[in-house]
This record gives sequence, C-alpha cells and structure tokens, in this order.
Amino acid sequence: MKYSGLTIGVPKEILKGERRVAATPETTALFVKSGAQVVVEEQAGLGAFFSDQAYRDAGAVVADVRQVYEQAQIILKVKEPQCNEELELHECDLMRPGQVLITFLHPASPSNHEMVRRLANRGVTALTLDSIPRISRAQVMDALTSMSTVAGYKAVIKAANLLPKFLPLMGTAVGMIQPAQVTVIGAGVAGLQALATAKRLGARVFAADIRPDAAEQGQSLGARLVELGIPQKLAIGRGGYAKCLPPEWLQKEREALTETVAESDIVILSALVPGKEAPILITEEMVRAMNPGSIIVDISIDQGGNCALTEAGRSREHFGVIIDGTKNIPGTMPTSSTALFAKNVFQFVNNLVHEGEVALNLDDEIIKDTLVTEGGRIVHEGTLESMRLRGGNP
Ligand code: NAI
Repeated sequence: MKYSGLTIGVPKEILKGERRVAATPETTALFVKSGAQVVVEEQAGLGAFFSDQAYRDAGAVVADVRQVYEQAQIILKVKEPQCNEELELHECDLMRPGQVLITFLHPASPSNHEMVRRLANRGVTALTLDSIPRISRAQVMDALTSMSTVAGYKAVIKAANLLPKFLPLMGTAVGMIQPAQVTVIGAGVAGLQALATAKRLGARVFAADIRPDAAEQGQSLGARLVELGIPQKLAIGRGGYAKCLPPEWLQKEREALTETVAESDIVILSALVPGKEAPILITEEMVRAMNPGSIIVDISIDQGGNCALTEAGRSREHFGVIIDGTKNIPGTMPTSSTALFAKNVFQFVNNLVHEGEVALNLDDEIIKDTLVTEGGRIVHEGTLESMRLRGGNP
C-alpha cells in the first residue's frame, strides 16, 4: 500500500488563538486506509471541533506531543514552528535529522529567517505550502487559495455584523430601505469571494483591481467597476501577477478610488503584490470622508494592510469608521478552514510519497518550489534571496 511503513504525526497548533489543525478525521481515515499510521496529539482537533475519539474512530493513535514527534517520519502542521512554552522547547528542537515537516513556513519573511536556519541546522526536510506553484495540477493542494476563500467570505460576514444597517434592499410597511454599498479593492481569490458573498447578501457591490482580468471577473459576479486608469504595463508583472505601482500611480489610484470609498458602507481591502508589502490605498483623509458607521475590513493586514490606519490584530474606530485589522481570519472559522486545509495537505503528501517513501523528486515543480531545507541546507530561492538582501548569512 502507498503509505505502508510510514507514520504521520499531527501536533496541536500552539500559536495563540490558532484553532486549525493539519488533519481531520476524514483525511486521517484516508491516510490510514492507504497503510499509514497516524499519530495525533491529544486535543489537537478540539479548536476545530474534532474530538480525540473522532480521530481514534478514523484509525489514529492519540498521544502526547513528544510521542508525536518521536514516532512520525512526516509532521503535518498549519503554522511555522515556534516555542512550546509548556515544554519550554522550540518546536524545531523536537524534530530530528531527515524528519519531514509540511506547513505554512512563510520562509522568506525576515521574522522567520532564524527559524528556517534552525530547521536547516537540525537537518529537517521542510516543505512550505505557501510556495505551491499556481499550476492546474497543484490546485487541489493550494492551501493559500483555500484560506483566501475563507478570508474573503468571513470578512464580509464580519463587516455585515458590525454595520448598523441592512445590507439588502428591504421593502417594509413604512417604505423602501436602499441596499448598502460594498466596495472590494483587490479582486484576487479573497476579493472575489468577498464580492460573491456581499452580492448574495443583497448589497450593491463595486470592485477595483489594477489587473483587467481580475476586474472583469469581479464584473462577472455582478460588481460595478471602479475605473483606476492604470496602464497594463505598470500593473502586470511576471506570470501575470500584480506589480508594485510607482508612487505617482499609486496616488492616481487613490484619487480614482476616493469618491467610491466615501460613498461605501463597507470597504473590503484585499490588494496584494506577491512577496511585497501591501500597497496603501486608503489614506487617513479618505477614511475621514466616509460616513460615520461605515466599516473597513483590511484582509491584507498580514502583509501590512491597505489602509494607513489599520492596526494589526485590532478593531479600532477612527472618525466614526470601524477599521478591522483581524489577523489570521481563516483561523476564526476553524472548522471550514481545517476541512479545506487538511484536504490540500492530504493531496500534497500524496504527491510526495511513493511506495511508503518520501520521494524528493526535484524534477517535480511542486516539490522543487516548496522545498525549503534539506540535508542541513536552505534551498528555497525566495528565502535565500531575502536573507542575502538583509545581508544575513544563509
Ligand atoms: P493576491 O492575493 O496576491 O492579490 C490580490 C489582488 O490584489 C490581485 O488580483 C492583484 O491584482 C490585486 N492588486 C495588487 N495591487 C493592487 C492595487 N494597487 N490596486 C488594486 N488591486 C491590486 O492574489 P491571489 O488572490 O492570490 O491570486 C491572484 C490571481 O492568481 C488570481 O486572480 C488567479 O487568476 C490566479 N490564481 C491561480 C491559481 C492556480 O492556477 N492554481 C490559484 C490561485 C490564484
């Protein structure tokens, strides 16, 4: 059987507030059916409402954290390794040479460089899910896309909950109530899901994106477009993804957005440029021009935010406008996020394992792009480049 002789370990996430887990009872059963032994840490699934008994019923062994790390050849996680305060030990130090780690490592982020060096020094084979190439074969493994889907949906639900108004057109005995206006800036995966959700809730929706393809997709979901007037050659970079705009064009974009933003009851911000800080598209002045009671949800906060006033991890009121900078939005919807994430991870492992062995086939673009450390070395191009840029020693 495909997984005969392999043990897969699933620790409980230890980041504060993180309720997701890397395997569900459903994916556990799939691994077990193909011959794997699965060891799940006690209460690992509790945050996402999966009990220890549900994992046992799926064929897993439930054990303590040390047993999980000692027994498994492959460790599945959601977040990058960090210090386990209960054990007074870093998760990297629970791992051994040759052990395989699969998780979101965000290895190019400077705050994670030290952790990546630590993994390399311990001889861990680490693969990061945030570097899965955007090719059709990899779509079933694309955990970033799954998490963006959750973030776009939840951002609108959150905003609707905070808004002191109805979203849809309401016919009442005392007259018609006009629908609220929702503007989504950045119509990538998260933005499109936000648009679709706002539309389903009956709002009037507007979309803005510097890539014409993305803007058109927004339009096909029923949004009206905000014309930004950015030349394609400035907006689109390698692989068709967005580029950082020069400052004078960012200023023009802000001017183009000003009127629509001022008229919006809800603004969802999800504009990102791969590997860069999020562009500032909403200034303090633009927030002042909005009606009191309006809501901004800044999904891009994990990369710095699109609004100059967003505070990471906080919801604050400025000039009567609530600006929500909740980090890790997918973590606030742990059951659906975990269901998607665990399936993505299952597919990723399926591509990696052949005849009971982890096969690091570097001719496979998915494995090559996601491999971060191997044999004591850091091999991930984006990470090495980011380390060199900061004058650090890989
Ligand atoms: P993202 O999260 O990096 O960016 C979100 C959006 O922000 C993008 O549409 C981008 O054009 C926009 N943006 C950047 N700067 C902006 C600015 N100054 N003003 C307004 N908007 C700005 O992108 P995401 O959501 O990860 O995906 C981007 C595209 O990649 C998708 O639309 C899709 O076409 C493609 N994709 C392909 C996949 C596959 O083939 N497996 C999987 C996921 C996405």
